[in-house]
Amino acid sequence: MKILVLGGTRFLGRHLVAQALARGHAVTLLHRGASARDLFPEAEHRLADRNGDLAAALAGGTWDVAIDTSAYVPRHVDSVAAALAGRVGVYQFVSSISVYAEGAPAPLTEDSPRAQLADPGTEAITGETYGGLKALCEDAAGRHFGPGRSLVVRPGLIVGPHDPTGRFSWWVRRLLRGGEVLAPGDPAAPVQFIDVRDLAAWMLRQAEAGGTGAFNLTGPVGGTTMGGLLEAARAALNPPATLTWLDEATLLAAGVAPWMELPLWLPAAQATLHRTDIARAVATGLATRPLAETLCDTAAWLDTLPGEDAVMPPAQPGGPPRPMPGLDPAREAALLAAWHAR
Ligand SMILES: NC(=O)c1ccc[n+]([C@@H]2O[C@H](COP(=O)([O-])OP(=O)(O)OC[C@H]3O[C@@H](n4cnc5c(N)ncnc54)[C@H](OP(=O)(O)O)[C@@H]3O)[C@@H](O)[C@H]2O)c1
Repeated sequence: MKILVLGGTRFLGRHLVAQALARGHAVTLLHRGASARDLFPEAEHRLADRNGDLAAALAGGTWDVAIDTSAYVPRHVDSVAAALAGRVGVYQFVSSISVYAEGAPAPLTEDSPRAQLADPGTEAITGETYGGLKALCEDAAGRHFGPGRSLVVRPGLIVGPHDPTGRFSWWVRRLLRGGEVLAPGDPAAPVQFIDVRDLAAWMLRQAEAGGTGAFNLTGPVGGTTMGGLLEAARAALNPPATLTWLDEATLLAAGVAPWMELPLWLPAAQATLHRTDIARAVATGLATRPLAETLCDTAAWLDTLPGEDAVMPPAQPGGPPRPMPGLDPAREAALLAAWHAR
């Protein structure tokens, strides 16, 4: 097959391209060359900034599938559709489970209500607008390609090697550092995330099968909990480490920021994102690898990095970098000391 990847050099796109090439597909990437210039010399690269016009960069060529990992505002989808008119089969749009409206009841299904922006014309990508903008991108995909030629992929938290966001990998680093680890909330609380390689494999199988429709993509298939995750991390990475569980009320009273200071942890009232129905993806072949494999491969990748000073990618393409998530070690020690002294 001929596959066009809009993006392809950072995380999900990078794994998609690697797997597509390994499966014998001809791959074209469109990106700016800013994230990685020398990746995938066997693929065709077209350099362009998708905030501008893509007509010249995408002139010439036909593709069976276009996979768009880097559209954040509907204009991005509009310009791809205009540039490719009549020269692509299926358009796969990488959306997010953040499209669902705040307060949508759990479990989130593909039919749950989606977020609506107060200002649908905004292009400012913030924590508040990200999901609503992705919903507008989905609508644009439907308008341009129709339901018969578009696949909307709604991933939950994506984890694994090359993750630039430092959320899951913060836990990997924390367990590797060892000692007494502050474990947040209820160990029985469900958590969901998907290994980037499992997500990429499902998307490619859909590409090969001509799959269309909207799908939630998270996991692990069969489910895990915060306790299951941290115990698995301890067992796989550093068995002598210990976990001390601090309840939600204590953490919130101390002002600990859910998700960002203790990644993946969400207070029960906000934890809908960890209660996403993936039956539709499972029925179409989603398989997830053992958690220990994701943990060990993430640790091995972290080991290849020069240091811990990587930064999260900008919220807005071209915008300023954001601080990495995670709990400061001194703050963690103080919280644990207060817990033991209570
Ligand atoms: N991480 C998560 O947990 C998560 C969860 C749910 C959904 N998602 C979604 O998953 C997608 C994954 O993104 P990814 O970073 O992993 O994909 P990726 O395809 O690996 O990396 C992003 C690509 O986009 C290119 N790019 C960025 N801005 C561009 C621009 N203005 N013009 C042209 N190319 C541009 C980058 O190359 P250059 O920088 O060289 O241009 C890079 O190749 C995103 O749509 C995100 O919203 C992520």
